[in-house]
Amino acid sequence: MQKNNILEIETTIEKPILRWAGGKRWLVKHLPELLPKQFNDYHEPFLGGASIFLHLKSLNLIQNHAYLSDFNSDLINVYKQLQENSPEVINLINTYKNERDFYYSLRAVNPQNDIEKAAIFIYLNRTSYNGIYRVNRDGLYNVPFGYRTGKNLLDCSSFPRISKLLSQNTTIQSNDFEIVKENLKANDLVFLDPPYTVAHENNGFIQYNQQIFSWEDQKRLAKLLKFISESNAYFILTNAAHACIAELFNGLGVLRIVQRPSTIGGKGAKRTQVNEYIFTNVKL
Ligand SMILES: C[S@@+](CC[C@H](N)C(=O)[O-])C[C@H]1O[C@@H](n2cnc3c(N)ncnc32)[C@H](O)[C@@H]1O
Repeated sequence: MQKNNILEIETTIEKPILRWAGGKRWLVKHLPELLPKQFNDYHEPFLGGASIFLHLKSLNLIQNHAYLSDFNSDLINVYKQLQENSPEVINLINTYKNERDFYYSLRAVNPQNDIEKAAIFIYLNRTSYNGIYRVNRDGLYNVPFGYRTGKNLLDCSSFPRISKLLSQNTTIQSNDFEIVKENLKANDLVFLDPPYTVAHENNGFIQYNQQIFSWEDQKRLAKLLKFISESNAYFILTNAAHACIAELFNGLGVLRIVQRPSTIGGKGAKRTQVNEYIFTNVKL
């Protein structure tokens, strides 16, 4: 029997498919108070695990073009392959096993094409020790096997849906964050989540990225914020809660302090909250 005539459309908010340092899933609950009421195109130049893009796109809050980019070309290849060849990526991952010997043999493989490269990247990210992206001097991934358990570790069921989101009006490329300047127009929104390269006493985070984000990069970022405001576009920037960051970005927008859940300590680790900075020129 039909309960009522109302057609309920369920929205699945897609979660990142990769473990990624500095992931911003914790920030999504703050987005309603941060977003402009309306914006034109969307730009995310430090894409990482893509948690913010996936959240906004799932909720149909990105209605125009999305420009997604990251410096890490292996990471960007994953999103491009999901965009164009997700069935082939899934088929390959389905042949992989979460076992020590298999892990080390696959880690040593020189991928034959970009599809295989993406499948191996996702596999290593999910089964390695801590999902960190670390390569040696020759550019080879060198993180050990994780001995992680859980039957859904290699689950790809969200890939077709994510592939659809990435295929709608979305440009994906590997580039430095200043690429934003090329396509920026008035009323666009730029979400910027750079690596937090400032270590500080409260939570001591340093990003172990292949490309370290230097103080010169932070200065280039400050200039980009100025460029965005002068283009009459919006920015939302996350950054480390540190006096030197407050000083560098002073006057470039409103500073808001948000709290992020964090776990500190090794044995007997404690859940706690740490501050992070958000600079924005979105007027509420
Ligand atoms: C904190 S992570 C982004 C995390 C992402 N918001 C999420 O939720 O998973 C920062 C990203 O910046 C990228 N990156 C580092 N230097 C860059 C640069 N100069 N230009 C563009 N991306 C860069 C790194 O590869 C990394 O993926």
